[in-house]
Amino acid sequence: MIHLTRRERFNAAHRLYNPKWTDEKNKEVFGNCSNPNWHGHNYVLYITVKGELRDDEGWVIDLKQLSKVVDEHVIQKLDHKNINVEVDFMKDKRASTEVLAIEIWNVLVDEIKQLGADLHCIKLTETENNFVEYYG
Ligand code: NI
Repeated sequence: MIHLTRRERFNAAHRLYNPKWTDEKNKEVFGNCSNPNWHGHNYVLYITVKGELRDDEGWVIDLKQLSKVVDEHVIQKLDHKNINVEVDFMKDKRASTEVLAIEIWNVLVDEIKQLGADLHCIKLTETENNFVEYYG
C-alpha cells in the first residue's frame, strides 16, 4: 500500500450564512465571514489516494488521469466562482471549509475508484492558518 498526493489550487468567493437565521444572528455567529457582499480565498486542495503499486508502471495511479478528473469535476466548478451560488455540489449547503472538503470527497470518491485507486484524504487549506482533513 502506498499513498500519493496531488495538489491543486483554486480561487473562490463565499459567505458563511444560514438562511434560517436573521442577518443579525448570522453576523453574531459568523462575524466578517458573513459579509453579504462576499469575500474570497485562495484555496489549496490536496487529494491523497492509496493503493497497491502497479508493477508495470511503478505507480499507484496515473497522475494525468487523476489530474483530469479533479480538474473536470472539482476545479473547473470552483475556480473563480461563488461557492454559495454557482457550484452545483454545494447547493443549499453551508460554504464552510469542512462542508466543502466533504462534498469534494463525495464528488471524487467513485471517480478515483474507477482509476484503480482509493481516495484516502481530502485536505483543504482555506488560509495559511486553517485547513481541514476528511477521511470519509
Ligand atoms: Ni471565508
